[in-house]
Amino acid sequence: MSRQKGDRALTKNIVPCTNELMKQAEMVVRTVFPWMTPFEWLSFIAIRHRDSFLGRLLSRVAGVEDLVAFDVYLDETNAVRGTTGLYRYEKDAHEAVWVAWFCVDPAVRGRGVGQALIDHTVERARNAGFKKIRLYTSTDPNEETAQRLYERNGFKEVRRERGLFTTIIFRERTIPDAEQGVV
Ligand SMILES: CC(C)(COP(=O)(O)OP(=O)(O)OC[C@H]1O[C@@H](n2cnc3c(N)ncnc32)[C@H](O)[C@@H]1OP(=O)(O)O)[C@@H](O)C(=O)NCCC(=O)NCCS
Repeated sequence: MSRQKGDRALTKNIVPCTNELMKQAEMVVRTVFPWMTPFEWLSFIAIRHRDSFLGRLLSRVAGVEDLVAFDVYLDETNAVRGTTGLYRYEKDAHEAVWVAWFCVDPAVRGRGVGQALIDHTVERARNAGFKKIRLYTSTDPNEETAQRLYERNGFKEVRRERGLFTTIIFRERTIPDAEQGVV
């Protein structure tokens, strides 16, 4: 398996999160991120209710312009084992899309699912016409593997901010046109 690009077989198992899959997706997210900020908590409820007025209202309160995607990785038994999302913030909606809820169930880590989710997310952003993709992560030891994955995939650190318990790391990368072929 390539360390640079995700396994195509894995990428094929990444699908939009339907309402039926939402509970499972939430379980994975809650397992991986037991400590959420009020903003993150709110934005996740907004995802759950994304088709309703409540969801749109909560998104606005959280400063989110719109949810571009919320997708899940399904294992061979069709159980949700990973999640990834894309959304736009009101403040920079004109130029960038943000990655959210990128995580993999601890039980299936180290098999390339994370890489496949990154490939998929970048491709999604490219297909939606975005040229810049941003995200924030942190110095929490739980997110250490993600830093290597992000670096390998061209998400460069652009700034740091002191959070309550950890330091928040902001990263971004540009999305080359498909014909240039570098994901
Ligand atoms: C970051 C995260 C998504 C990675 O998920 P993953 O499925 O384990 O990712 P991958 O398998 O693609 O890659 C992880 C490592 O396993 C290695 N790997 C990939 N396929 C492998 C295989 N078949 N055999 C052995 N190792 C493999 C990768 O090279 C990578 O190595 P590294 O530790 O040197 O970086 C996961 O660790 C996670 O959910 N972390 C907590 C949440 C988080 O930090 N999210 C992002 C911040 S907001």
